[in-house]
Amino acid sequence: MKQLYGVIGDPIEHSMSPIMHNDAFKQLNLNAYYHPFHVNRTDIGSAVKGMKALGIRGFNVTIPHKSTIMPYLDGIDPLANSIGAVNTVVLEGGDFIGYNTDGLGFLKGLLEECPFSIDKKKVMILGAGGAARAIFYTLASNGINSVDIVNRTVQKGEQIIEECPYSTNSKALTLAEGSLKINDYDIIIQTTSIGMYPYINEAPISLEYLSKHVFVSDIIYNPWNTRLLKEALAKSCSGQNGLAMFVNQGALAFEKWTGVLPDTNRMKKIVKRQLGG
Ligand code: ATR
Repeated sequence: MKQLYGVIGDPIEHSMSPIMHNDAFKQLNLNAYYHPFHVNRTDIGSAVKGMKALGIRGFNVTIPHKSTIMPYLDGIDPLANSIGAVNTVVLEGGDFIGYNTDGLGFLKGLLEECPFSIDKKKVMILGAGGAARAIFYTLASNGINSVDIVNRTVQKGEQIIEECPYSTNSKALTLAEGSLKINDYDIIIQTTSIGMYPYINEAPISLEYLSKHVFVSDIIYNPWNTRLLKEALAKSCSGQNGLAMFVNQGALAFEKWTGVLPDTNRMKKIVKRQLGG
């Protein structure tokens, strides 16, 4: 019998996950299918129960359910617990266990595409929302601890640093401080919503002083290149959009469900083609 997987979210119709996972199932000759499920905020508890009753083996969780799903699961992995968000659920011995592969997906994508070794490098995270927290805690849990947070609301950056269960050597800065000190960093990770529709002509920070040694990673992939990434590339910096993070968070979820790590280059090609990138 076909094994069922899926993704729950609201909205969900534009998700790239089904095409990416279904291609990987086919490629690996696995008798499985991945379906997008539209779940309203108020239905999250009954959706989890229903997924269990229907024998669904695992699923991804996207906006707006990443945090609110947590009390309805049977167990949460410690990293996901400290991040306060779950993007992947796995059926393990009859229990639904929640994981977060966003941060590790980001890190793998960075390692794939950054042209220099990230060892001992100084990192700036722009933004202090859920994505910033997932990336910050994952970097810290992997021993990358020279990571500062630059955000419009500095207190939110301070809070992420204070609540981090792993040792760090970090500080929170304002956007103005961040733009003045931008060249003190080797890697800049853009996690805010600025650059995405309807803010496609905006950038969260001034790159006036940016020099070309900096690698700029923007976790947005739609639009393909944000204004910030375009400006950085125009200054001869190297950089990446959010495709590698998206693909790797999905590949890590796929591996948790099936025990097999799919071909991420093939996944990148499929999503890129779909987005017209
Ligand atoms: P997610 O969970 O997807 O990471 P979020 O929690 O909504 O998203 O966080 C959005 C981030 O974008 C925050 O860091 C936010 O800054 P504040 O913490 O000051 O709200 C940032 N952001 C949103 N709009 C912004 C703007 N106009 N200028 C600068 N930063 C902005």
